[in-house]
Amino acid sequence: MTEKRAELLKLLESKFEGIGQNLDTHLSGLLQATPITYWDYIQTDALLNLQIKRTNQPDEMVFIMYHQVNELLFKMILWEIDQVAENKDLTPAFFAERLGRISRYFDMLSSSFDVMGDGMEVAQYMKFRDTLTPASGFQSAQYRMIEFASTELINLIDIRFRATIDRDTPFKHAYDHLYWQAAGKDHKTGKKSTLIQLFEERYLDDFIVFMQKYNTRNLWTRFQELPASAQQDASLIKAMRHYDHTVNVKWVMAHYNAAAKYLNSGETKAEATGGSEWQKYMHPKYQKRIFFPGLWSAQEIELWGVNNLEGIPV
Ligand code: HEM
Repeated sequence: MTEKRAELLKLLESKFEGIGQNLDTHLSGLLQATPITYWDYIQTDALLNLQIKRTNQPDEMVFIMYHQVNELLFKMILWEIDQVAENKDLTPAFFAERLGRISRYFDMLSSSFDVMGDGMEVAQYMKFRDTLTPASGFQSAQYRMIEFASTELINLIDIRFRATIDRDTPFKHAYDHLYWQAAGKDHKTGKKSTLIQLFEERYLDDFIVFMQKYNTRNLWTRFQELPASAQQDASLIKAMRHYDHTVNVKWVMAHYNAAAKYLNSGETKAEATGGSEWQKYMHPKYQKRIFFPGLWSAQEIELWGVNNLEGIPV
């Protein structure tokens, strides 16, 4: 019996005593335990059984799997934002380190979008997409949660209604005026589309709770709680601008270009599976969504999404 082992046994004994358990029973259980394997730990069997095509088109597999990769990265992003939100003693170093992780994940998402743009045969896409209506990536709840968790709610409100909404506005009212509500209306009839009706049936309650939580704990509010010296730190400001630009211009443009390649491929322009007026809705120059407007000049905001801010370090 080494000193280290005796110490470990003592610690284990007090741990199990603390929860009313007998250490000997647990040690005897260890004798029967099987060794952990990679596949059990990573859950590869479960993960690799989640790719179910609806058609006989092989490229539908690319479409499904790339969306799943996106959702996993969205989850990694939300995990890190939550560490910042929940931190009781937030330091500039912790904030900057977590922002770096979040930003790297979104860099992966925007730089890999060619997997969609170049990685499927147009003819195959045009066939399998017909089985997907009225579903759309628009219904990605995690994408919406990243937005709620990154910025003040007011920055996500449709620009036409911002003046009518303030901190006392009920969350449901603010929700009804989010910029993306515009894509949830059938552009021909003006009525709420099936796309958004189904989305709200499934997620509306969750969104309201999430919006409340992040109202005072989103990345922008937490940044503003850092000491003034950190808020003026050039490298932290650069990192914040980089994240903002990556999510709201780079990714949006990569997504727009991929969508345009397929939807504009026929003789007539195709309808979006979700039914939005997509050419207008999806372009960043119309929505001008910006997470951290306080970190951009009036001219940069004016040019947002118009020329991809060429020449401006982001
Ligand atoms: C060829 C591939 C793709 C096409 C043609 C496409 C097309 C579209 C269209 C037309 C919309 C507008 C809503 C609608 O009416 O459907 C949309 C929204 C959206 N899609 Fe995609 N998409 C593609 C790939 C992806 C991927 C890989 C993701 C990743 C999860 C994604 C996530 C989203 C999100 C989050 C929205 C809402 C964006 C917003 O509100 O501005 N899409 N997509």
